[in-house]
Amino acid sequence: MGQASSVHGVWSKRWTFVLAATGSAVGLGNIWKFPYIAGENGGGAFVLVYLFCIAAIGIPIMMGEVLLGRMGRQSPVNTMLSLAKTVNASCSWVLVGVSGVLAGFFILSFYSVIAGWALAYVVKAVSGSFVDVSAQQIGQEFDALLHSPSTLLFWHSLFMLMTCTVIAKGINRGLQATVYILMPLLFALMLVMLGYSMTSGNFEAGAAFLFNFDPSKLSGEALLVAMGHAFFTLSLGMGAIMVYGAYMPANESIGKMVVAVGFLDTAVALAAGLVIFPIVFANQLDPGAGPGLMFVTLPIAFGQMPAGSVFATVFFVLVVFAAWSSSISLLEPAVAWLVEHRGLSRLSAAMFSGVACWLLGLGTVISFNVASEWTLWDKTFFDLLDFLASNVMLPLGGLAMAVFVAWILPLDRVREQLQDFSEGLLALMIFILKYVAPALVLAVFARSIGVL
Ligand code: TRP
Repeated sequence: MGQASSVHGVWSKRWTFVLAATGSAVGLGNIWKFPYIAGENGGGAFVLVYLFCIAAIGIPIMMGEVLLGRMGRQSPVNTMLSLAKTVNASCSWVLVGVSGVLAGFFILSFYSVIAGWALAYVVKAVSGSFVDVSAQQIGQEFDALLHSPSTLLFWHSLFMLMTCTVIAKGINRGLQATVYILMPLLFALMLVMLGYSMTSGNFEAGAAFLFNFDPSKLSGEALLVAMGHAFFTLSLGMGAIMVYGAYMPANESIGKMVVAVGFLDTAVALAAGLVIFPIVFANQLDPGAGPGLMFVTLPIAFGQMPAGSVFATVFFVLVVFAAWSSSISLLEPAVAWLVEHRGLSRLSAAMFSGVACWLLGLGTVISFNVASEWTLWDKTFFDLLDFLASNVMLPLGGLAMAVFVAWILPLDRVREQLQDFSEGLLALMIFILKYVAPALVLAVFARSIGVL
């Protein structure tokens, strides 16, 4: 049997796991990345494949990750170590935890810089700086932001400080209290924006773009992109979800909670698409603008609409909230490990890891300006970190977790954690984790290192 509790405590409220895991899942990936990759990969056809990947692969892997956490009740590093020992498996399974802590660290170092852009845009929106300016000027302002190391540094520092403040306060007074405030607000703000795009945007064109299923656009490439994004958006493969599972009370249903998280994450991604595209189409802008969609195209539209500054502010505050509740999950595995392993207080652990992550973030800050020419394999420092963490470490981490649950753990131990599963459902989940998920993850991995 797993322990009843962890040294860090367990969530004291019933909905915390769902709110915290949804907070982790819903982030820049949903609001910034999903709309533009959906646009680039055939709209509706891509969306359908993405939904399939979430339901058939993402959710089973997430269940596996949560149950590992709840069995181990420690940071991902010590959870993997102690579980491997109890089932007499090789101690090298600890590497899954170690690479997870590192991946979270890498991702947060650049995630914080990009979340900093959103912070900067809140100020721009409040001060009405999008109103009545030309599209060209808005593009130039974005470039100016990227080319100013000191401005990027300022917002990156502020965002890291916000993240560490929450982490330092501990899992109940910090993380739980924060997600209880941020998540309802995030959903409310999303509904405001959705209401706006339904009444003022070209909602039909936006919806058609996202949901018109054109099978001719369904490429093998789209399947792989969709699968990779399913991982990132559900925060899988690095232990963020595992550590949240470690704080989950023993009597809660992993199955129901995880399905709720997958559903909410998908709902927010679709809603983000339904907010952005109708506004884009109503203003005759380009839906395929790529990464600039949120920071350039959308502000142009905000600048031309009535009460645009208000909606722009609401929108960028929403993005900041989403990023904030994700960033805490990226740092928590490292902090939990420092507390366990080094006996540090949460405050020192948060400060130590926060400063280290902030330092690494400086590499991303300068990769947009002074060091934009320093490339390796045609990638800047930021691109390299993103590639290594998101396309290599996450898929491999997820694969290893699926293998550990389905091939290494005795079935009884898995059954213990999923008591409300029927035998059929349990067999289906094990089948997916044993064969389907590893095969698909390997395909994604192969593609990302250029083998396919
Ligand atoms: N899921 C978040 C997003 O969509 C990012 C994120 C948070 C993440 N924690 C993670 C990604 C852990 C991978 C692993 O923006």
